[in-house]
Amino acid sequence: MNSTTNDRLDVMTIRCYTLTAQALHWIVAGLMFTVLPLAWVMVNMPHTAPDREWIYTLHKSVGLTILALVAVRLGWRALHPAPPLPGRMARWEKALAFASHWLLYLILVGMPVSGYLLSATGGKSVPYFGLITLPSLPNNPAVSDAARWVHVAIGQWLVYVLILLHVGATAWHVAVRRDGVLDRMLPEQKA
Ligand code: HEM
Ligand code: HEM
Repeated sequence: MNSTTNDRLDVMTIRCYTLTAQALHWIVAGLMFTVLPLAWVMVNMPHTAPDREWIYTLHKSVGLTILALVAVRLGWRALHPAPPLPGRMARWEKALAFASHWLLYLILVGMPVSGYLLSATGGKSVPYFGLITLPSLPNNPAVSDAARWVHVAIGQWLVYVLILLHVGATAWHVAVRRDGVLDRMLPEQKA
């Protein structure tokens, strides 16, 4: 069997994520691309701007929605494990994919938790879309500063690097390897 036949077989035997896992992935990805611009806008707004509080509330609410969806996603994943990666990928490539996916999950949990802690222990309220307000925590400037450091000084850069690597790796699989990796995250195409 030549390599073209092998490639075609590989593409034909692609195992996809479940529709639920796919939907959760794309909704969370969309929310990530929403929460970040909100952060950039809000921290650069003049303190007197009338919409400033509302943009902060939106940032916090979208971030908390991400946390809730990621909890559902991890639960779903525990019951429906990720399909095996294409057999043609080298061991180091699979290890890199594994590590980057779990680092992405780490930031998807770590960013909302550190955001909540920096606000709630820093004397700020955490409203959810103006519907409810999350429980406040006792004022603790040391905890708030540590959480701000995790969220702003470390976390945000980890977010940028991981998303760039993740989207870049997907583009590489689509354009260079053509091994159907993106198709694993898309509804099955009927021939
Ligand atoms: C995945 C979720 C989240 C991401 C990716 C994220 C991202 C960011 C980024 C990038 C910044 C820094 C903006 C800058 O300095 O240029 C920021 C700031 C901030 N975030 Fe988040 N955030 C998330 C969730 C949350 C949540 C859930 C809360 C609160 C409940 C929150 C509260 C804040 C606050 C208060 C700041 C301003 C910090 C300061 O005073 O400097 N974030 N966020
Ligand atoms: C245009 C943007 C994006 C594209 C094209 C994309 C594409 C993909 C693809 C193709 C996979 C499946 C990889 C495999 O076959 O193993 C995947 C998995 C994953 N993606 Fe994305 N993604 C995007 C944005 C994001 C964002 C913004 C996040 C979160 C910050 C994210 C988090 C994840 C995670 C955690 C997995 C692993 C899923 C699992 O195994 O449970 N993705 N992505």
